[in-house]
Amino acid sequence: MARKPFIAGNWKMNMTAASGEKLIKELAPLVADANCDVALCVPAILIPAMTQAAKGTNIAIGAENVHWAEKGAYTGEISCEQLKEYGVKYAIIGHSERRQCFGETDESVNKRALAALANCITPIVCVGETLEERESGITEKVLDRQLTDGLKDIEDVTKIVIAYEPVWAIGTGKTATDGQAQETIAYIRKKIGQLFCPGCAEKVIIQYGGSMNAANCKGLMAQPDIDGGLIGGASLKLDFATIVNFDK
Ligand code: 13P
Repeated sequence: MARKPFIAGNWKMNMTAASGEKLIKELAPLVADANCDVALCVPAILIPAMTQAAKGTNIAIGAENVHWAEKGAYTGEISCEQLKEYGVKYAIIGHSERRQCFGETDESVNKRALAALANCITPIVCVGETLEERESGITEKVLDRQLTDGLKDIEDVTKIVIAYEPVWAIGTGKTATDGQAQETIAYIRKKIGQLFCPGCAEKVIIQYGGSMNAANCKGLMAQPDIDGGLIGGASLKLDFATIVNFDK
């Protein structure tokens, strides 16, 4: 069965309840006929207002992180139960900004992903190499480690989404070329096939992320292994609708 494309936004630490609601109301009619799954992952504090704003639309609301513990003394973290109360469907896990600025490790990524899966929240697990790693020829080695350790003990890998986000392409305006993104994502799929099973790897949705925008989305989405996008800057404006409608 063909993989259904999935375009998700990552608002990062942007927007307010007022500006977010306005954007969702404007986006909703523009993406209503999308042939792909659509989500916006928003700051935790905006989840109640954004789920309300997106009610009755085909825009699912996701979180930007989730903790593995059921509850307890984890100041500043959010639990699966808290997300589920608002019907949150997705949670980004292991974004490179969290890895670089907040000490996220493959081990913590794994714990978060397992907890999300156990709670029927689809983890969008981010992987990707830095510029230094790419230039020193260790991209595949880095991805091997992130996938092996980050996806450890996952029973059904088809229930997760992977976002390949080369760190050097995030927020830099420097997108990976269609060929670079395809080649690396094909490698990720092959690796998932080795870690799990080839048949499962064919079913896993793998997104590209990193300066994806209204102008370059068609070329990226035309690549056989690229099933979607994780969109930062361009998800803060109506350009997001153009990306969602990449096939029109
Ligand atoms: P930009 O699209 O702003 O480069 O961000 C990509 C990203 O980090 C999405 O998670």
